Amino acid sequence: MNILVTGGMGFIGSHTVVELLENNDEVIIIDNLINSKIDVLDKIEKITGKKPAFYQINLCDKDLVEKVFSNHQIDVVIHFAGLKAVGESVEKPLLYYQNNLISTLNLLEVMKNHNCKKLVFSSSATVYGSPKFLPIKEDFPLSTTNPYGSTKLFIEHMLKDLYTSDPEWSIAILRYFNPIGAHPSYLIGENPNGIPNNLMPYIVKVAIKQLDHLNIFGNDYQTKDGTGVRDYIHVVDLAKGHLKAVQKVMTTNKIDCYNLGTGNGYSVLEMVETFEQVNNIEVPYQIVARRSGDIAQCYADPTYAKQELGFECEKTLEDMVKDSYQYIINNK
Ligand code: WQD
Repeated sequence: MNILVTGGMGFIGSHTVVELLENNDEVIIIDNLINSKIDVLDKIEKITGKKPAFYQINLCDKDLVEKVFSNHQIDVVIHFAGLKAVGESVEKPLLYYQNNLISTLNLLEVMKNHNCKKLVFSSSATVYGSPKFLPIKEDFPLSTTNPYGSTKLFIEHMLKDLYTSDPEWSIAILRYFNPIGAHPSYLIGENPNGIPNNLMPYIVKVAIKQLDHLNIFGNDYQTKDGTGVRDYIHVVDLAKGHLKAVQKVMTTNKIDCYNLGTGNGYSVLEMVETFEQVNNIEVPYQIVARRSGDIAQCYADPTYAKQELGFECEKTLEDMVKDSYQYIINNK
């Protein structure tokens, strides 16, 4: 199949492109490289022996999106592209609404014009807000606490309204939990520019002594050891979940949401301890004040994704922390 991957040069996008190419799908990437680097394309080719078509364009430029659909017969779209830093979204809400919503509206319009109505959308567990119960099921109440999360929730609403207007659409909304790790080749992985917002990239930078110590944001939560609990999922497992979602939208005409998580919750201290043991390295830390907007616990009930997509995680927490570290060691 011919699959368009927006944001296909990013962390999750590039891992998904690798799995699609190894599945013998034809892949076309649109990415404006705001959060990724052009050398990822060579890395993808090195891993798979194939070089996907690549367009360095901004989805906010509808004419350029139109050109891509005129150049290729696209069967399915996987839509990753979007700004995704929670803290930045609080400081720059208009940038986030403009970028994430306009780009998606353009994409959907052009898809409709070309009668391409099969979509896998990259959403986030952040749409569950602060869950009252755990583990989280797909029918739990939705709410958001920051503009980034609101763009994801607004797009989910847009997609549901689009499907109601035209049931020829087939849409899978994937709600990710906390993706970490790297491809076993260690050619692609997560290496954000500057000071990382997320836990694992920060731990890795402390481990390679680029940062002095980890600040643990609060140890007074109602959790097993007082620190925040999250559902970390290996990025390769997450990428494989997208292939399952592509199969789903190719064989059904519906819209549905799926949690892509392991169902296991690990605390910040457990992540630090596991990282240190597996990689045999120290990660100095200090306990500091809570980060505003953080919630105590968030982990998935993966039952529905397994039942509907046949999705199951294979990688262990040890794989996740080893691969996260080895990727940086191999790309210093
Ligand atoms: C995990 C835990 C922190 C950094 C965010 C987005 C979510 C998704 C994934 C895009 C929390 C603690 C972190 C640090 C710490 N992104 N922490 N010190 O906040 O669960 O989710 O990233 O889709 O939308 O909200 O991930 O990695 O930032 O935090 O103590 O330096 O680690 O308090 O408990 P989070 P995270």
